[in-house]
Amino acid sequence: MSLLTIVLAAGKGTRMKSALPKVLHPVGGLSLLGHVLSTVKLASDGQVAIVIAPDMAAVRTGSLVFTQAQQLGTAHAVLAAREAIARHTGDVLVVFADTPFLSLETLEQLRGALTERTPLAVLGFEAADPTGYGRLVRDAAGDLVAIREEKDASAEERRITFCCSGVMAFRAGVMLGILDQIGHGNAQGEYYLTDAVAVARSQGFRVATIACPQDEVLGINSRGQLAEAEAIFQGRARERALAEGATLIAPETVWFSHDTTIGRDVTIEPNVFFGPGVTVENDVVIRANCHFEGAHLRRGARVGPFARLRPGADLGPDVHIGNFVEVKNVKIGAGAKANHLAYLGDGRVGEGANIGAGTIFCNYDGYSKHLTDVGTGAFIGSNVSLVAPIRIGDGAYIGSGSVITRDVPADALALERSPQEVRPGWAAKFRTMMMRRRAARTK
Ligand code: UD1
Ligand code: CA
Repeated sequence: MSLLTIVLAAGKGTRMKSALPKVLHPVGGLSLLGHVLSTVKLASDGQVAIVIAPDMAAVRTGSLVFTQAQQLGTAHAVLAAREAIARHTGDVLVVFADTPFLSLETLEQLRGALTERTPLAVLGFEAADPTGYGRLVRDAAGDLVAIREEKDASAEERRITFCCSGVMAFRAGVMLGILDQIGHGNAQGEYYLTDAVAVARSQGFRVATIACPQDEVLGINSRGQLAEAEAIFQGRARERALAEGATLIAPETVWFSHDTTIGRDVTIEPNVFFGPGVTVENDVVIRANCHFEGAHLRRGARVGPFARLRPGADLGPDVHIGNFVEVKNVKIGAGAKANHLAYLGDGRVGEGANIGAGTIFCNYDGYSKHLTDVGTGAFIGSNVSLVAPIRIGDGAYIGSGSVITRDVPADALALERSPQEVRPGWAAKFRTMMMRRRAARTK
């Protein structure tokens, strides 16, 4: 039977106090919506439909997108996708984009609970603190009869700790018949998707419940819960890195993104941040206090302490990048070194080249970016400015302190420096004169 998944991503998210729509806030460098989409797309023997608000037009993900003009509640949001539901024959999953940790297995299990007589299934969880969640109200036989939102619940209902995750599965054939009966006569004046339970019961259907761990269905309504989700995400990412053979000296100080890849026998010292798009191959050593994003560290590279790798930094095998070195959009060949205080932006460094302390690739003229090409085995002395576009040939040698503006051929020496003047005895004479003057003043 084919599956349609509807992801609800509109909604006011007023408790976030943000200009950014709630579901676009990131956890592990990926939006809440992105987490949910990556899970439901795996379940996609069918299609995915996203319901967004009009101010979220930027969220065009290649999926089917419906716009909910006004945020009148979760049932109203599902009905924004009415057209997709009406033409679907099979099962429909409804998931909330503010619930980032849902697993594929749980979704499959929920869907598996659907039958002809039970065309609706609800995913519930035992809440440590049920505040804010809808409560699952069951009859004496243990069957689900209704879901009560906190604001509508009696004191007795509020004591229930078995809560609604928001995830539901429907048989498409009866779904619109249920949703169209949902009203908005409640404390918030909204069309609640959760009322589908009472409506289905009144139409003579049964409703199934499946339970999952709370961690999986943590709903993000506030910045506090966003931080809680980040902590859960980081805990799992650290465990995964350790399980896959990396050494983390202080795991609680290392921050990963959703797509960070870490190889075996990688050592990561304290205080390292991985932004999105970083791949670390085997045997790499990352020393303390580094920040990376969009970078590839190949086998045996050594980076840090205090190094910054920005998008397009591609470090070849055994490359050394030392303290206070920034690399952006540069491919660095095997064994090359930039050990101290340098900016390498836009270009290439050949194998085995040595970049001295204080070297700058002057890549920007205020209007456009230009490339620097350093050949294999070239030696760039300390405090050199390479004014791009520029090519330094293989094996060339650049004298310290030079500002290089013209290409340098292979194996040449380039030097750009005023001749040094030496005046023997000058300093001693100067000192004597100054001491005399001071003595005359204080007499
Ligand atoms: C909802 C459930 C509650 C459940 C909780 C689990 C309802 C009425 N309540 O409450 O029972 O315990 O989730 O986290 O369903 N959205 C829209 N359009 C709207 C309103 C919401 O697209 O008009 C989207 C939001 O972006 C969000 C999701 O639906 O992703 C849930 O909305 P939210 O307002 O967070 O519902 P809760 O109050 O958390
Ligand atoms: Ca929510």
